[in-house]
Amino acid sequence: MKQVIIDKERCTGCGICAANCPDRTIHVADGIALHNGTDCLLCGHCRAVCPADAIRLPDQSELLGLATITEKTAVVAPGTTDCAELVALMRSRRSCRNYLPQTVPLDRLVDLVKIGTTAPSGTNSQGWNFVILPTREDLLVLGGLVADYYRKLNRLAANPLLRLAVKYLAGDSLGRYYRNYYVSVAEALREWDEEGTDRLFHGAVAAILVTGRKDASCPAEDALLATENILLAAHAMGLGSCLIGFAVEAMRRTPAMKEKMEIPAAEEIYSVIALGIPAVHYVRPAGRKKVVPRIMRPAAVTGHK
Ligand SMILES: Cc1cc2nc3c(=O)[nH]c(=O)nc-3n(C[C@H](O)[C@H](O)[C@H](O)COP(=O)(O)O)c2cc1C
Repeated sequence: MKQVIIDKERCTGCGICAANCPDRTIHVADGIALHNGTDCLLCGHCRAVCPADAIRLPDQSELLGLATITEKTAVVAPGTTDCAELVALMRSRRSCRNYLPQTVPLDRLVDLVKIGTTAPSGTNSQGWNFVILPTREDLLVLGGLVADYYRKLNRLAANPLLRLAVKYLAGDSLGRYYRNYYVSVAEALREWDEEGTDRLFHGAVAAILVTGRKDASCPAEDALLATENILLAAHAMGLGSCLIGFAVEAMRRTPAMKEKMEIPAAEEIYSVIALGIPAVHYVRPAGRKKVVPRIMRPAAVTGHK
């Protein structure tokens, strides 16, 4: 049974835990908080609001156990942090494609993974997993495998009869690849093979691969939310980062590559985050297309309040 542990000596029966339980697995009877006898999410909201510190979660700690950062466990209350500063951080993170050759200490990379896990996850499943490639040499091994995949794909895509057959049987994915990527991938492969130029990882010296358990309720969303946390924290640590979709695509389609990276078959790969110390200095933040949200007022249309 997945349940929080309620300390009956400390519990005052105030009921704040029950009122804030998203799963309704706690109620108050005879002046004390009690389980309803069903599995709970173990999301920790009850613990987080308990004024008497009467609730514990099995196998969980509020400390992430960061090695390179002094953790602050105090809650930042809504509205008490500098939002402008937060937005500036978000806008200042860029996809880095120019790195110094220095390695990133392993404990930094492990800390990034731990910070990633502060993300929300569907039903609090935390079904993500992370693989760290700590050195440039490790990254080059993955790069070689990815290059092999695209070499093969380019050979197939270059065949007009095959493109036609695939289009007829399974849609135009190969044709689209041919039109959009064939030439640039061929050039990148030539540079990789002949000049040792790395247009895949852009010279990054480490990577974090983010995977998700396929049986989790929302593995893609969970993994990508953790990914964004890692990107922002990397920036705050002074690291550059870049998502490498080309590597994700290759790994998704090549089980042997996932095996080589020790990713179990029960997990899907969702992101490859290249990392390193940036050799580029940005003097302006990211610009974005203007966004015009659709303001929907169904209540106004239907007259519902
Ligand atoms: C899902 C995804 C896949 C990406 N794949 C690559 C990639 O393979 N190589 C690369 O250089 N950048 C890649 N990027 C980075 C985007 O090109 C970049 O986010 C975009 O141009 C905006 O720039 P910014 O991140 O600096 O704000 C990827 C981004 C996302 C979200």
